[in-house]
Amino acid sequence: MKNNEERRKKIFDAANRIKEQASGSAGKGFRVVITGKGGAGKTTTTAILSHLFAKEGYNVLAVDEDPQMNLPYAIGISKEEGDEIVPVTKNLDYVEEKVGARPGEGWGLMLTLNPDVSDVVERFGIKGPDGINMLVMGTVVQAATGCLCPENALLDAIVRYINLRRNEVILMDTQAGVEHFGRALAQGFKHIVIVTDATFNSIQVAKHAAKLAKDIKIPYVYLLINRTHSEPDKDLQKVKNIMGNAMDTFNEVIELPYEEKLFNYEPNVMPLLDVNPPSLLVERLKKLQQLLEKYDKQ
Ligand SMILES: Nc1ncnc2c1ncn2[C@@H]1O[C@H](COP(=O)(O)OP(=O)(O)OP(=O)(O)O)[C@@H](O)[C@H]1O
Ligand SMILES: [Mg+2]
Repeated sequence: MKNNEERRKKIFDAANRIKEQASGSAGKGFRVVITGKGGAGKTTTTAILSHLFAKEGYNVLAVDEDPQMNLPYAIGISKEEGDEIVPVTKNLDYVEEKVGARPGEGWGLMLTLNPDVSDVVERFGIKGPDGINMLVMGTVVQAATGCLCPENALLDAIVRYINLRRNEVILMDTQAGVEHFGRALAQGFKHIVIVTDATFNSIQVAKHAAKLAKDIKIPYVYLLINRTHSEPDKDLQKVKNIMGNAMDTFNEVIELPYEEKLFNYEPNVMPLLDVNPPSLLVERLKKLQQLLEKYDKQ
């Protein structure tokens, strides 16, 4: 029990230290969070965007906040590589060992400097195809202890205070729903991409997310309507009807067509990026990538 307490304290200390060191740089830089209802298309969107940004020369940090850990496979790592991943929350002690901290030194000392992308990837992450850096948060199961979740605090601190250079972007895939809005995490983001199907339940979640995004003052909000039907405006019209005034929240609305090939290649999105002529889905996400860049410069 004592060990557990010590460990909690150690992790909270590290999170606080990162915050203190980085005050002033909180949330600065190009940060994009992707949210929406279960199965809406968050992971697919994050993975394709990661590749599109990487191809534009960006140093991408793709963060998987979903305990299911789907993002690395969507980005295109193999099953074997996936088995090697040690999620940040899963095995903190392993990381402590890896960086050579002596017993008693712990996390605080490891993270005394304002971490940058390469620090974080070296310590906690892995490199994927197209040079995409990946950080996998892993499962946080602490319901029984009342969940102050020190791991969450540490991860929030890393993602929020990480030092981003000009050509760097963080893309964070989240688990379904809107719980992450309750954490400090979502507050450090400049852009939020909300993915929805044109179905009542999915649109309700998107509407809720849009409201929360505005409440915590995320400057740019994008709506993706996924798996649209071929009949023009059918999906958009339905979304508009259900969203009502909330439609004004969105800086941009983009429709993504149903793409049969995703099913053939899944979980890996990479082959879809090489299809010729280009898939309309990829073209639309390319447009989103360019809009993100445009707004980020404002
Ligand atoms: N436009 C599309 N056309 C066809 N299939 C799609 C499309 N978008 C997503 N899919 C498929 O739908 C499934 C769910 O997508 P994805 O995993 O991206 O959703 P998610 O929002 O991340 O789900 P979860 O909430 O479970 O994390 C995947 O099998 C994906 O390949
Ligand atoms: Mg997902």
